[in-house]
Amino acid sequence: MPEQTCERCGGTGWKIVEKDGLSGAQRCECAFAARGEALLRRARIPVNYADDHFDNFSDRGSSDLRAIQLLLIRYCQDFPAGDPPGLLLIGEPGTGKTHLAVAVLRRLIEHGFEGVFMDYQNLLDRIRAGYDPLSGESPRAAYEEAMDAEVLLLDDLGAHRVTDWVEDTVTSIITHRCNERKPVIATTNLPDAEMGGTLVERMSDGAPSRYDIKSSLAEKIGMRARSRLFEMCRIVRMPKVGDYRVASRK
Ligand SMILES: Nc1ncnc2c1ncn2[C@@H]1O[C@H](COP(=O)(O)OP(=O)(O)O)[C@@H](O)[C@H]1O
Ligand SMILES: [Mg+2]
Ligand SMILES: [Zn+2]
Repeated sequence: MPEQTCERCGGTGWKIVEKDGLSGAQRCECAFAARGEALLRRARIPVNYADDHFDNFSDRGSSDLRAIQLLLIRYCQDFPAGDPPGLLLIGEPGTGKTHLAVAVLRRLIEHGFEGVFMDYQNLLDRIRAGYDPLSGESPRAAYEEAMDAEVLLLDDLGAHRVTDWVEDTVTSIITHRCNERKPVIATTNLPDAEMGGTLVERMSDGAPSRYDIKSSLAEKIGMRARSRLFEMCRIVRMPKVGDYRVASRK
């Protein structure tokens, strides 16, 4: 079906406006809308998260969660003036980290910024595939995209087996973005000792003598990447509200 031609601008993306007896060209609304749609497509937000907005994020009766939501809405309003430029959402699974990070990304895109969603594990797989000539993945494409995207949403940071290669790769991406002051919006459920996260937890089977030693963020991405990340991100600690998916099934 042919696209309908915009009546205001005849499809040129520019409309003529009269002001104080003078006429001039101005960007037409349809051009903004088309750019918005293109930006949203290019952000590649996974279908699972396609519906995550601020509007459908519930505060679950927690004033801490409400405060975080307001802080993030303010972050979007101020963007890119915020200092530090990025965000790091830390907390247990199901507390809404990805939902909120996607809501932020979406709003920044609505404001005309370019951003991309990347799952940490998937990013590393794509970068690794780039070294394999048979993979069909173009060399360095994923790597460069992660380095250069105006806004990078890095979801589930640290959810990957640690190797020197992983550590070096993550460090170089984070360091590059830090040096260029390009924001990262990251989420992680790894505890961080300095942030008051507990590295030792009782196992969920409840047996009193069994404890699960959790790897820390620093162990999973390396000390250098961790410290650059803390330097360039505002740290947002999710409250202990439990897993939304479990709570909403009740
Ligand atoms: N406060 C909330 N209000 C509405 N939906 C929520 C909330 N918290 C989580 N969810 C939903 O629960 C699911 C899991 O949330 P998610 O953001 O993926 O958690 P996390 O990234 O912290 O593990 C998603 O479908 C998300 O939309
Ligand atoms: Mg998540
Ligand atoms: Zn138009």
